[in-house]
Amino acid sequence: MLIKINGKVYNGHDGETLMEVAKRNNINIPSLCYKKGFEGLGRCRLCLVEVNEGKRKKIVSACVYPIRENLEVITKTEDIIKMRKDIILLLLLRSPKNEYIQELAKEYKIVSPERYIQKENDDCILCGLCVTACEKLGTNAISMVNRGITKKVSTPYDDPSKDCIGCGACAEVCPTNAIKLDENNGIRTIWNRDFDLVKCSVCGKYYATEDSLNFIGDKLGSKEDHVCEYCKKKSLASKFKKSFQNIY
Ligand code: SF4
Ligand code: FES
Repeated sequence: MLIKINGKVYNGHDGETLMEVAKRNNINIPSLCYKKGFEGLGRCRLCLVEVNEGKRKKIVSACVYPIRENLEVITKTEDIIKMRKDIILLLLLRSPKNEYIQELAKEYKIVSPERYIQKENDDCILCGLCVTACEKLGTNAISMVNRGITKKVSTPYDDPSKDCIGCGACAEVCPTNAIKLDENNGIRTIWNRDFDLVKCSVCGKYYATEDSLNFIGDKLGSKEDHVCEYCKKKSLASKFKKSFQNIY
């Protein structure tokens, strides 16, 4: 189906969201809680855009808005910029020391009034991406707990979770780098628990926790060789190269 973004026509597929079409066509819509491969969460509200359907104009979150035939979209209007600025200001008050939020604030020329800034910086903007990643994996080790200003992401009772496999997917998807993951002498520490790391049998570097490899092995019903992603790609590339040399 055809839709218009900022006056240009683009092709979209049934079931796609506005954000997916925009990303595919390198159209910049600011976002924090959107991650490719995940359904939109609609939490941070940074991705607000204006849509025009027939005679109706409205402001929607691009990451959760499904496209329709002949949809017209504008990604930047004065109203949208004003709303984004308000959202970024609130984020800045919560996470004044976070470099990602600081970058956004700089881009939108926002300076927060000193007296409203929270004394304690909280890097987590409660977007929920980490919880979704953990759920998708099937480990369900973390969740959103509490309400109001005490709301946070945590393991049950803040204790080391027996369900956590230390894979680090939560830290990987976090847009503000809020999840602490340390690695030292073959031990990864995350969510108050230590995990043994396994070395890649090719390059010898630590690359994954033993628990996460066992978890994947159990899911697949087979144990894989201990080879890191980098070495797997390198070996695949050299196999391709050899097969091309044999052809030409
Ligand atoms: S820790 Fe990161 S991914 Fe998880 S809710 Fe907070 S900001 Fe989002
Ligand atoms: S990216 Fe759409 S609401 Fe966060």
